Amino acid sequence: MRTVKVPLAERSYPIRIGTGLLADLGKHCARLGLGERCAVISDHTVAKHYRNPAVASLKTAGFKPVFISQPAGERAKTLKNVQACYDQLANHRLERGSFIIALGGGVVGDLAGFVAATYLRGIDFVQVPTTLLAQVDSSVGGKVGVNLTAGKNLVGAFYQPKLVLCDLDVLRTLPTREFRAGLAEVIKYGIISDANLFARLERDLPKLLAHDPATLGVVIARCCQIKAEVVGKDEREAGLRAILNFGHTIGHGLEAISSYGKYLHGEAISIGQVAAAKISKQCTGLTAKDAVRMVSLFDKAGLPTQIKLTALQTKQLFAAMQLDKKVSGGKIKFVLAKRIGQVVAGQIVAPAIIRQSLKQ
Ligand code: NAD
Ligand code: GLY
Repeated sequence: MRTVKVPLAERSYPIRIGTGLLADLGKHCARLGLGERCAVISDHTVAKHYRNPAVASLKTAGFKPVFISQPAGERAKTLKNVQACYDQLANHRLERGSFIIALGGGVVGDLAGFVAATYLRGIDFVQVPTTLLAQVDSSVGGKVGVNLTAGKNLVGAFYQPKLVLCDLDVLRTLPTREFRAGLAEVIKYGIISDANLFARLERDLPKLLAHDPATLGVVIARCCQIKAEVVGKDEREAGLRAILNFGHTIGHGLEAISSYGKYLHGEAISIGQVAAAKISKQCTGLTAKDAVRMVSLFDKAGLPTQIKLTALQTKQLFAAMQLDKKVSGGKIKFVLAKRIGQVVAGQIVAPAIIRQSLKQ
């Protein structure tokens, strides 16, 4: 088992990465000294696979868990479903000393984390991410929240978990399309801060796609380490943390205009990162060679790199990007690459250049 620490003084917590960890969920929670009652929040798909082992492990360790399940998918990340969770927590009499376990992908983690941040003004929570995307990104760093029709993640909080438990075994049941979507965030870490990781991904992509546990363990731990370092320096995104949003300005816009249905988050940010690479060539001196390497890696990972938008869709995309949390004073801010392994945030880009980057 590997451990990566998220360094946040008294709110620091470990990310544990390894095989067979779900069976020990109860033991890991017991070490945290949490209350006896807890709620496992999950989605219907994840519940089918992992409800029994998670609940059994908690009971064996002496906890009294209740299980709450939501529909699967991005469209479930709503205030309506948050309300449904509150009602169930209250019905089951969960108290201040109780805790929540988010068992699922980023949708469950964001929603359950938001419930934990707000129920009784905040109770403890543990992240058990079950998608690659959630293991390398969404379960770490404390951003929790839900979508509005107007845009992604527009309601939320910064609220750190007490523990993140990444069991590599659960990735075996993850559909291939979802696994590939997670690779979009993995590749992002190489681009934003680690050229060696990027080169390793170019070399070891077939091993990752074959779910080789040793390669998965090293790569997931490296991604978590990068995220932990960034969050440790800038928890509330005053500056540095914005680099984690490489490709997300256009990506979030695409998700919003397709009503969170057509593209998975990872697919949308793959297209967004490729567009950001094209903009970077013009604005921050990214070499054509580095841009080609980026497009080629997303392509080899089986991710979409282009999109065909009508004039109306382009207009809608710009309107959606205006609602992005990174907008200030009406200006859309981009994270752009200088080279593979180094990016710069807060870049204002002319609309014509953005439009050009979306052309095939
Ligand atoms: P997801 O949570 O929708 O999970 C994807 C699908 O896989 C779902 O249908 C789910 O039921 C299924 N699934 C999950 N684990 C499984 C398993 N082990 N076996 C079989 N099926 C499984 O999607 P996601 O890609 O994990 O997360 C995307 C969300 O994460 C988006 O809402 C995005 O905004 C959010 N996000 C948040 C942060 C953050 O910092 N909080 C960062 C990145 C992304
Ligand atoms: N995924 C972006 C962040 O955590 O800041």
